Amino acid sequence: MFYDIVSIFPEYLEPLKLSLVGKALDDGLIGLRLWQLRDFTHDRHRTVDDTPYGGGPGMVMKPEPWGEALDAILAAPPAPGLTPTLVVPTPNGRRFTQRTAEEWSARAEQGWFIFACGRYEGIDSRVSEWARGVMPVEEVSIGDYVLPGGESAVLVMIEAVSRLLPGVLGNGESVTDDSFSIGEDGTLLEGPVFTKPPEWRGLTVPEILVSGHHGNIRRWRREEAELRTQRMRPDLRP
Ligand code: ADE
Repeated sequence: MFYDIVSIFPEYLEPLKLSLVGKALDDGLIGLRLWQLRDFTHDRHRTVDDTPYGGGPGMVMKPEPWGEALDAILAAPPAPGLTPTLVVPTPNGRRFTQRTAEEWSARAEQGWFIFACGRYEGIDSRVSEWARGVMPVEEVSIGDYVLPGGESAVLVMIEAVSRLLPGVLGNGESVTDDSFSIGEDGTLLEGPVFTKPPEWRGLTVPEILVSGHHGNIRRWRREEAELRTQRMRPDLRP
């Protein structure tokens, strides 16, 4: 899986080199390139934004640096024979969910994603329009709130996709018990979890979990998942 990320704050994405995704990078399961959008400007101030046509508050990202950045990335495929997907994080896009993460991670070695991190009021709409003629473009939102830029959304999406790639989670770690993966169609939240010691500050672990009876434990976990989902996210249930 290859990720190219274009941003005016590429340092924002440096934390991807830590933890689980960092290990996957070190192991060669993932490739990552960070691009500074301002490197594709030609004026002294390295300008990436301008006032919006039609008036109104804020600034809009100019199309020219984006066009040049995308040309440079397309001219340097991370591996032969790949077609990239351009992902544009925006509050105006389709919702990114666990299903999206599953679909994207299924591309595995064939996967190549270019993330275009907008700031200000967003990127001139002609950039997506032009890019659609060259590659699939997905405008996606990570939730119904407005962030100051796409960078944190890209961190979220890359972490969610990468942990599903073969070999990224260690042996014995499974994603099948995750929230949004349990239940017939991934509509349940995961219930409570416990580890040692058996008693802590007067609180004990549910008896059934130390019973060793795997059938009962499975049923109990399923009931707890149903209860929690009903309480926290009734909207997930049919
Ligand atoms: N950029 C700003 N807000 C966003 C959101 N909710 N999701 C993705 N990208 C964004």
